[in-house]
Amino acid sequence: MPIPLPLAAPSPDPSLATLDLDAEIRRLKRDRNAVLLAHYYQESEIQDLGDFIGDSLQLAQEAKRTNADVILFAGVHFMAETAKILNPDRIVIVPDLGAGCSLADGCPVEPFRAWKAQHPGSVVVSYINCSAEVKAESDYICTSSNAKRIVESIPADREVLFAPDRNLGRWIEREIGRKLVLWPGSCQVHETFSLRKLLELRARHPGAKVIAHPECEEAVLDHADFIGSTSALLRYAAQDSARELIVATEEGILHQMRKAAPEKVFIAAPPDGTCACNQCPYMRLNTPEKVYLALRDLQPRLELDEALRRRAQVPIDRMLALS
Ligand code: 13P
Ligand code: SF4
Repeated sequence: MPIPLPLAAPSPDPSLATLDLDAEIRRLKRDRNAVLLAHYYQESEIQDLGDFIGDSLQLAQEAKRTNADVILFAGVHFMAETAKILNPDRIVIVPDLGAGCSLADGCPVEPFRAWKAQHPGSVVVSYINCSAEVKAESDYICTSSNAKRIVESIPADREVLFAPDRNLGRWIEREIGRKLVLWPGSCQVHETFSLRKLLELRARHPGAKVIAHPECEEAVLDHADFIGSTSALLRYAAQDSARELIVATEEGILHQMRKAAPEKVFIAAPPDGTCACNQCPYMRLNTPEKVYLALRDLQPRLELDEALRRRAQVPIDRMLALS
């Protein structure tokens, strides 16, 4: 299914050119009692302004823990939506409401319901990269950090439907030796890595280890020395004895890897072609200017129908209890 690319970001207000954006963002965070949560895939300047940087699970946990009045979520829509599901009484704002996700967009709720209906009695596990509507139809939510544990908690005699990432689903199947029914979705960023170029790169750096996110295609994962969520990749990169690492995930994570282990060499795995397609075009819609405007105007906001929010919270709470 072709995934539409996000619309180009509107150009920022020219009057912002004279502002010290970092200082203004820090001042507004204090004035508004706001917390800035940033995903590892954000551009480095936004990560450096964040009060908390993490992967999808850590950000959901932090969103549940925070006492701030305002949550500014620098990530993509489904992440901010999750923060709102967990915090109905707080203001949740984002730099750009158009920051979607090819996985969430590739799993609309109506076909998802029809798919479920073909498998009565199954347990439905959905990756957190999906809409609130799909979450509300799911029994469990998982992230790449806890997906194996969540699926393993389901009795072996129950059929499990897994959506929307087939690559993550296949990886879980292989790791735990259990067949799942997979929704045919994928992440457009993680599917872009070229196996041929990866092998060429590895031949040029024989001492380098390859580390990969489980959203990558099976052929890439087959050549990885370590597979894990963004936080697991970061931990591995800092702790492993390898001096050189080839990293197959969105290249924003390299910023924290270089901070954690400045003496090591981190090489972004090559995409197919000459594009910058190992950068998520949705994540990169967020800019420091939009972070400032969101804090200044407390817009755009995430709002959710209360009945939908309550239903979507149930499988997220089940996940958090198991994490
Ligand atoms: P994690 O944050 O769970 O590593 O997932 C990566 C991702 O693609 C988020 O959209
Ligand atoms: Fe979605 Fe992939 Fe971007 Fe993550 S990297 S937000 S899964 S499109």
